[in-house]
Amino acid sequence: MGITTVIFDAYGTLFDVAAAARLAAKEPGREAFAAKWPAIAADWRAKQLQYTWLRATSNTHCDFWQVTQDGLDYALEAANMQNPELRERLLALYWELPAFPEVPAMLEALKSAGYNTGILSNGSPDMLAGAVKSAGIGAALDAVLSVETIGVFKPHPTVYAMVDQYFSITPDRVLFVSSNGWDAAYAAHHGFHTVWVNRGNEPMDRLPSAPQHSMADLTGIPDLAAAL
Ligand code: LAC
Repeated sequence: MGITTVIFDAYGTLFDVAAAARLAAKEPGREAFAAKWPAIAADWRAKQLQYTWLRATSNTHCDFWQVTQDGLDYALEAANMQNPELRERLLALYWELPAFPEVPAMLEALKSAGYNTGILSNGSPDMLAGAVKSAGIGAALDAVLSVETIGVFKPHPTVYAMVDQYFSITPDRVLFVSSNGWDAAYAAHHGFHTVWVNRGNEPMDRLPSAPQHSMADLTGIPDLAAAL
């Protein structure tokens, strides 16, 4: 049988989420932010994700842009840096996050080998369109699937089922790729072949299922898809 379709998480997997804070920290006049940016970026991402889980379990959905702003507001207050101009700059940079360097060639290799490719993300359609455009990878993607279609965040099981429905396939034909260990774990739980892209060499999350594969970056994805 084999893999026909390779699906990617967006934020942290294809797009470098830390880049917004890292790039802002290099701008003139941001010395105070530059001294604290790694902690602020980590807090921002952690709160953004916690808010998705809380909103999914409490039936209080909003879109990913809202939790992105809410997470940033928490992180800036925690760092005692509630500066409206800095807030706007960080949010603007989030709409044009760079892709990790290996992404364009890796997607081209998958398309040349005949795979369907796509994104499955918590991101709102507008946010995903902005990131895909600024990374220049739209031509190498067959689908950009947003949870906004169903109104609940990952890891709700209906999110992973969107891929099966969109491509009219069973989960065993899908290779799902995420840098978020919990996302990879629940994608595996759904029945996808799953790769955890573990750039930070972190321990595996303790959850009901685990990804079958892990890699340090995305370079090896086309070879893995061919081997499955
Ligand atoms: C996404 C988040 C989980 O893109 O990174 O869905």
